[in-house]
Amino acid sequence: MNALRAEGLVFRYPEIEIFRGLDLTLEPGEVRAVLGPSGSGKTTLVHLLAGILPLSGGKLWWGEVEVSGLGEEALARLRRDRVGLVFQHHYLLDELTALENVLVPGMIAGRPDADRARLLLEQVGLSARSGQRPEALSGGERQRVAVARALYPRPRVILADEPTGALDRANARKVWELLRALAQENGAAVLLATHDEALANDVAAWRIEEGRLVEV
Ligand SMILES: Nc1ncnc2c1ncn2[C@@H]1O[C@H](COP(=O)(O)OP(=O)(O)OP(=O)(O)O)[C@@H](O)[C@H]1O
Ligand SMILES: [Mg+2]
Repeated sequence: MNALRAEGLVFRYPEIEIFRGLDLTLEPGEVRAVLGPSGSGKTTLVHLLAGILPLSGGKLWWGEVEVSGLGEEALARLRRDRVGLVFQHHYLLDELTALENVLVPGMIAGRPDADRARLLLEQVGLSARSGQRPEALSGGERQRVAVARALYPRPRVILADEPTGALDRANARKVWELLRALAQENGAAVLLATHDEALANDVAAWRIEEGRLVEV
């Protein structure tokens, strides 16, 4: 069973076609980068695979479930369980502590597990900062909280769009390595969209070319 599969994916904005028949599969635990220059469609692809943008054509599966035909509400519920998202901006909630932010997916689902949230914060090296609000954390620390939050629901796949794009090189590497290691420990596949080829140079990669993915 694939963790994620897209078949014949087509997407166009009114004035431009971005993907024309893109195929992609991720196996459980697989780590892949998607490379491409600015404007090539990396963010668009992540949003399509996350079900945030509707496909213009083609099919998408998360695990065994075909999601391309689902309605908004079913899609949102399934996404919460199966897909972890990490973006360049952390999207943490300002009024909540680091620990509470990690717990948000559990609270929405009605079964918060504080022990799991604590364990994840420990794994990203932030036990001592768990009571702080985002404003009191550094950029790298905020992204590590975002990584812990993405992993909290035990998603099958983590989609990351320039997750370290706002960090200096040393912090970028640290956050990326944590994300990879923890995703693998949790059995999640990872797709990293980035223009930073150095960051992804030790993982298998695709490049976006003419609306499709090409092995690098
Ligand atoms: N909402 C939109 N409406 C119309 N065109 C868009 C929209 N969002 C993005 N585009 C166009 O789609 C193309 C792909 O954009 P996308 O943001 O996916 O690229 P990217 O590879 O993520 O770039 P970057 O590295 O700068 O983040 C670009 O040509 C962009 O101008
Ligand atoms: Mg982008």
